[in-house]
Parts: sequence; structure tokens; C-alpha cells
Amino acid sequence: MIDITGIRRSFPMLNHKQMQSHDLIYFDNGATTFKPQTVIDAITRYYTDLSCNAHRGDYELAYRLDQAFEEARACAAAFIHASEREIVFTSGASEGLNLVAQGYGRKFLREGDIVLSTEAEHASCILPWMRACEETGAVLEYIPLDERGRVGIEAVAEMMNKNVKVIVLAQISNVLGYEAPISEICALAHQYGAVVVVDGAQSVPHLPIDVTEHDCDFLAFSAHKMCGPTGIGVLYGKYALLDAMDPLYLGGGSNARFDMCGNILLKQPPYKFESGTANIAGILGMKAAFDYLSQIGMEQIHAYEQQLHRQLVDGLQRLSNIHIYNADADGAIVTFNVKDVFAQDAATYFSAHGVAVRSGQHCAKLLSEKLNTSATVRASLYFYNDTQEIERFLALAAEADMKTCLDVYF
Ligand code: ALA
Repeated sequence: MIDITGIRRSFPMLNHKQMQSHDLIYFDNGATTFKPQTVIDAITRYYTDLSCNAHRGDYELAYRLDQAFEEARACAAAFIHASEREIVFTSGASEGLNLVAQGYGRKFLREGDIVLSTEAEHASCILPWMRACEETGAVLEYIPLDERGRVGIEAVAEMMNKNVKVIVLAQISNVLGYEAPISEICALAHQYGAVVVVDGAQSVPHLPIDVTEHDCDFLAFSAHKMCGPTGIGVLYGKYALLDAMDPLYLGGGSNARFDMCGNILLKQPPYKFESGTANIAGILGMKAAFDYLSQIGMEQIHAYEQQLHRQLVDGLQRLSNIHIYNADADGAIVTFNVKDVFAQDAATYFSAHGVAVRSGQHCAKLLSEKLNTSATVRASLYFYNDTQEIERFLALAAEADMKTCLDVYF
């Protein structure tokens, strides 16, 4: 059981004096999440108690910081059941996904090779591979989604052949909330010698993740979608792959030595990917987020979110003015439209009543055709949301129509 009162108390954004009158219901957790006080304190502690550079200083303060820095890496590794040398600190999922596309894809793809992905992908997942394919002569092909928008293992199997070198997809879609069968996809891909790159931006914050169980080759995620700071994230990669691929940047911290003839000896992974001064405050804040989530337990978080999601879907399904696109989503994401109302007008209506939801294409611009709509409203939940918020939201949704949604502009 999750202690929702205690949890809500630990988030300043849910207890802000100014907020109390406004009473914000935040259902845009797919975009970013609130931070608990422990994360904010960890960031502050870097600037107040540990303020120096990492992996460069030979003095007591620097040793203490280096220890905290590497503890954060160990914590990230434990969170996804990886080893520390497979954890690269990045600025977020987007950088991690670009790093794989450039550092691995651009280096190893050849003309005629195939990269498989889907129409449901977020821009950060698919655009780096469009570029890598253009640069190498490889071809990007799309695994057909089923009629609801799910990726099925049968569809992946039909697309497989010896030319497929990479499969790149989100574990959970940021629009439809469907979970791809990652373990099955990895097992299949490996039979053909292909690698699987997983965008974990919407899964790692919500589910227990074990990269050894999935046997995925790469997994990228962002701290800010899981109670951590913005501008920091993790790329997990199997060590042999990290060792074989190239860094995006070169600079201080990533090389063991270089000379005037241009010989550069890079360090071993993960350090060869971490040039320049890191986002140290972000890394320490991210560690606090891993600690916070681990203390509650990812199983509990997932189970509680499933309950909230059920309540939200059941309530919306009873409303004849609402069209839901993903009632059977696996993640706590509900994508819908108010009938006859443009998504942005509906989001403005909810905002006028203190509810934050996202509207538009949610950075997954290829999906609109599949959904047969130019824009949708997305309510994405997290474990600090509660049943009262869902009830308030449902009451507002029940009142949403062309008149109420347009009245908020006047
Ligand atoms: N990818 C984030 C979202 O889905 C920004 O909202």
C-alpha cells in the first residue's frame, strides 16, 4: 500500500501556498514530473556543501564529491539492474538516443542495412535514426502497428530479415501508453544479430525495469520524468557495445592521453562518453530521485498508478462527450478528445479549471494519421496523483462541450 498523504506532503509543488487557492491538478506527468524535497535538497547540497569539479581534483572536497558522483552511478545501475560501467550520464533521453544513433548507428550501419521503428515514436526516438540512415545509406522501415496502435511481436517477426541491424522503439508510447513486448523483440532481434535500442522515457519512471531480463542493448531515459532534475539522464548500453561505439563529443575527462600528432586515447566506457564538466548537481539530484522511488518501491508505484488509471478510464468511458483512443493502455496515460472540440480548446478549458493536461501531437507526429485526428488531449498520471483529483477531473470532463470549452476564452 502506498502512503499517498505522506507522498503528497513531500512535494513542494503540491503544497505551495499560492497553489492551495488554485488547487492545481497536474496531469502532465508524461511531459515532466514534480520533485520531492529530498531531490531539491540534494541539488542544493551540491552547491552548499560539495561545490567543486568531479574527477579532476586531488583534495579532500573533490574526493568526497567523486565518491558521491560514483554513488549516483551505482544507484542508477541498481535501479535498472545494470553494472556501473554500463551507465553513461547524459543530458536526458534525447541525448542518449542521439548518442546511440551517431556513435553506434553512424559507425556501423552500411548501405542497404535496415533500421526498424514504428509510427508511434516520439521525435527523439525516430529523428536521430532518420539522420543516421541518411548519412549511411541504411533504410528506415516501419513495423505496422495493429488497429489500436500497439506493436505486436508477430508484426516485428514479419519485418525481420538479415539486413535488419537495429530496432529502435519506446517501451511505453508517450501518446497511447501501450507497452511494447521488449523482451520478445530483443530475443527475436538477437537471432538476426540486430541490436535493440529502447526509449525508456515513459517506462523507467513507472515500472520496475531489469535490463538483464529484457536483454535490451541500449536503454535511454531522463531523470526529470521520474522526480529528478531537468537536464540529466542515463544511457544504459551493454559494455561491449559501448566499448565499440564512438562518443558524440571529445574533451576533458573522456581521454587518457593525446599528442600533437592527433593520437587520442579514450578512456574506457562510461568515461569516454562524459567529456567536460558534468551536470553534477543534476547527477546528485537524480540519485536522490532513485532513492526516493526505490524507498516507495516501483512495484507499488506501478500498482497504484494502475488503480488510478482504471478509475480515470472507467469514468471517462461513462461520458458520451468523450472519445478515448487508448482505453486499454498499459501505462497511466489517457489520450482522448472532447467530441466536436479542438484538443487545445479542451486543454484550455481544463486549465481554466485548474487542471494541467497536454494537447496536440505530443511530439509523435507520425501517429496522427493512425489516430485519424490532428490533435488529442493527454492526461498522464503519476503516483502522487490521487482519487480525489480523478473525481474532480471527471466532473469537469462531464461538463466539457463546445460551449463550455469556448466560453473560457470570453
Ligand atoms: N516527451 C514528452 C511528452 O511526451 C515531452 O510530453
